[in-house]
Amino acid sequence: MSQHISDLIEDRFGLSTTVGAQVPAEGPLASILQRRTHRQYTDQLIDDDLFDTLLACGLSASSKSDLQQASIVVVDDPDKRALIAGWIPSMPWLAKAPRLLIFCGDHSRLRLASELRAKPFPNDNVDQFMNAAIDAGLVMQTFTLAAESVGLGCCPISEVRSHIDALSELLELPDWVFPIAGLCVGYPAREGFVSMRLPPSLTVHRDRYDVSRRAEKIDDYDKRRDQRFSIPEKAQKETDRFGVADFYGWSEDKTRQYSTPQRPDFLAYLKARGFGMA
Ligand SMILES: Cc1cc2nc3c(=O)[nH]c(=O)nc-3n(C[C@H](O)[C@H](O)[C@H](O)COP(=O)(O)O)c2cc1C
Repeated sequence: MSQHISDLIEDRFGLSTTVGAQVPAEGPLASILQRRTHRQYTDQLIDDDLFDTLLACGLSASSKSDLQQASIVVVDDPDKRALIAGWIPSMPWLAKAPRLLIFCGDHSRLRLASELRAKPFPNDNVDQFMNAAIDAGLVMQTFTLAAESVGLGCCPISEVRSHIDALSELLELPDWVFPIAGLCVGYPAREGFVSMRLPPSLTVHRDRYDVSRRAEKIDDYDKRRDQRFSIPEKAQKETDRFGVADFYGWSEDKTRQYSTPQRPDFLAYLKARGFGMA
């Protein structure tokens, strides 16, 4: 039986819906609804012309005030690739992906332009960091969607930020340039799976932000997700501190993950890179 967009939305959220019930599951909307992160790749190399086209697609993302505050470092040097992969042995896909990119927020060109055009820059504040971070995120996601549209698979790697000083030195990032994430790219070796999202009743608000029944909705989501894919006991985090849970859902996993400080030195790094963060 042919699928409709509603089937794909149901799959994405694990909830029944009539949205898209009349629309055949095909074209870009169907692809986006089925998109997924890929962490295993075949040995097939990516054609250089295609890869450069994907870079151009990524850089076609919209940009705050047309400031274009994203940069991409394509890491092809095998020694540099090996170093980066060696820092993060828990993610072997970093070593195996045919291509690795590092997406950066880049405030340095605006600073340079201000200098070149002899203009003051009384904007040394958090907003500048945020603008560049958003631009870089949009470029990464636009690259990813373009890559997925031609059958490639990607995996962002924020874990590179756990080695941010070493990475910045390795890639010779100048001041006001900071990595937001790496991106592994290659032809998928496996089909992968659609990761279930929080219900739109928690993430989409109409005319006002609705905080009603949030705890219940999170509980229900945990259960729906667990029914499709339960996290094995050996993958439970922080069992020394919190024990082995009988029911280990998404919220248990995420709260255990964030029960320890994550990259507490990031502000110091940004300040060292020139950001005032006032
Ligand atoms: C900014 C960002 C950083 C991420 N960092 C990592 C990472 O370090 N390692 C990894 O395996 N996946 C990473 N991911 C992938 C997420 O785990 C994945 O997107 C999420 O589980 C949802 O799955 P889906 O993309 O298949 O829907 C990252 C994703 C984003 C957007």
